[in-house]
Amino acid sequence: MALITLRQLLDHAAEYSYGVPAFNINNMEQGLAIMEAAKAVDAPVIIQASRGARSYANDIMLAKMIEALAAIYPDIPLCMHQDHGNNEATCMTAIRHGFTSVMMDGSLEGDAKTPASYEYNVEISERVARMAHWVGASVEGELGVLGSLETGEGEAEDGHGAVGKLDHSMLLTDPDQAVDFVKKTQVDALAIACGTSHGAYKFSRKPDGEILAMSVIEAIHKKLPNTHLVMHGSSSVPQDLQDIINEFGGAMPQTFGVPVEEIVRGIKMGVRKVNIDTDCRMAMTGQFRRIAEQNKAEFDPRKFLKPAMDAMRDLCKARLEAFGTAGHASKIKVIPMDDMAKRYASGSLAPKTN
Ligand code: G3H
Ligand code: 13P
Ligand code: ZN
Repeated sequence: MALITLRQLLDHAAEYSYGVPAFNINNMEQGLAIMEAAKAVDAPVIIQASRGARSYANDIMLAKMIEALAAIYPDIPLCMHQDHGNNEATCMTAIRHGFTSVMMDGSLEGDAKTPASYEYNVEISERVARMAHWVGASVEGELGVLGSLETGEGEAEDGHGAVGKLDHSMLLTDPDQAVDFVKKTQVDALAIACGTSHGAYKFSRKPDGEILAMSVIEAIHKKLPNTHLVMHGSSSVPQDLQDIINEFGGAMPQTFGVPVEEIVRGIKMGVRKVNIDTDCRMAMTGQFRRIAEQNKAEFDPRKFLKPAMDAMRDLCKARLEAFGTAGHASKIKVIPMDDMAKRYASGSLAPKTN
């Protein structure tokens, strides 16, 4: 059993200068694909579940699945993380179901649509961090609202995210405010806004510094060199996956994601957690479409799911290699959550903000 907290994993990643992809799951096949990739390259992993995933799969199913994955792959440190928690209850119930880490996304109000005030964000993130740390779980906060610097729009594509036009300043995390936020909330990791957004339709062209503001990450890292930074909306939306979907009956308009080389640059500037969901969805869906088109008589779901799992495994493996995560699983000795709780209580894990 190697369930690890986000804090321990990202501390290790910072010490050895690598990043860790956080892959979203909704079902068993995605969980197995991630773990197979991790095993193939000896990498620790972060698996995360959104609120949507929890209601799709059922909390008990997810909890048992985490337990099963940890048992099947005992040599892979596995962090189970709540993605975009919208309030205290979402975060606390995740921990009760075996998650070792939660994101309290206080950049939006509880409806996950309305941009929140700074004061609201600080207050709720601090409260969740305090409660999670009592039991040794880790907390990711978010400052700045995800959305497009090209259009100024929030990103309601996945049914959550800010709705409508946003002020440019809200779409970019302010470095000074980031220092104040980490000091006041004591979060273990900080998600920042730099022009990325969820889903496939991030950029209408290959992004440059105008629309993907890596300079913001650099500026935050200068002020907060010891804080683990998180990039959301970091799928690369690879051209070959768009092509497979479109070749076999799909109709995805041409789009651009976050280039892997930009993420690798981000890792050199303090990015430690990189959220990826869309790429995994596309890898699987491309194979569903291909099998459906190439073998119209097929009706066994496993004949669709197995190639889909293989495609997702290969995608995950490529990211684990590119981000430098590969080769580190066997070097980590997992600290149990109870011991993490004691460390928080002693003050030894308090963020260094100056
Ligand atoms: O937060 C974004 C992830 O892609 C999760 O999406 O809410 O559709 O599960 P979801
Ligand atoms: P993508 O949609 O770019 O994969 O982002 C996923 C994410 O940020 C989950 O929190
Ligand atoms: Zn996200």
